[in-house]
Amino acid sequence: MKALMTGAAAAVLLASAAAQAQLKPEEMVETRQAGYQFMAWNMGKIKAQVIDGKEPYDQAKVAAAANAIAAIANSGMGSLFSPDTTTEQLGKTTRLKPEFFQNLDEAGRIGRDFTAAANQLASVAAEGDQAAIKKAFGDVGGSCKSCHDKFRAD
Ligand code: HEC
Repeated sequence: MKALMTGAAAAVLLASAAAQAQLKPEEMVETRQAGYQFMAWNMGKIKAQVIDGKEPYDQAKVAAAANAIAAIANSGMGSLFSPDTTTEQLGKTTRLKPEFFQNLDEAGRIGRDFTAAANQLASVAAEGDQAAIKKAFGDVGGSCKSCHDKFRAD
């Protein structure tokens, strides 16, 4: 019985992995937009506490926000970008410029730099040194912006 259940659980996992691989173009767009929105929400929390001082600094909350950003950055978002999901095919549904696929080396480099910056932010947030968090936050923000400047339509 135990083995059977394990088999069933494995089948469910496999089925959901297959469903993932078959996201429709519109679903890829929705999913990546949700990921960016969620990162932006968490960036806002860190900004309010560490940059603007609008909210009192709470190390656990800042670390949780940084971990959420890093988790999304490390989640393999690249698989939500396929060449049939740009403004060319989907119009206003998306802001992904077709240029992304004409500059895959650069897009990949920006993506890797972004992930490294997000990991660094999570690492210093865990330590709790606010000056280091401020610097790492700036690096992540710069990384978001460099991708938007190149590959996101206005
Ligand atoms: C590798 C490139 C890249 C990186 C890095 C990146 N973005 Fe984006 N971002 C995009 C693209 C492309 C879109 C447009 C997605 C679409 O509409 O399909 C976007 C869209 C967004 C949106 C709008 C989502 C929506 O609902 O339409 C927000 C908010 C956003 N990004 C915030 C961020 C933040 C914050 C970071 C850094 C923590 C970040 N992005 C990092 C490329 C990037």
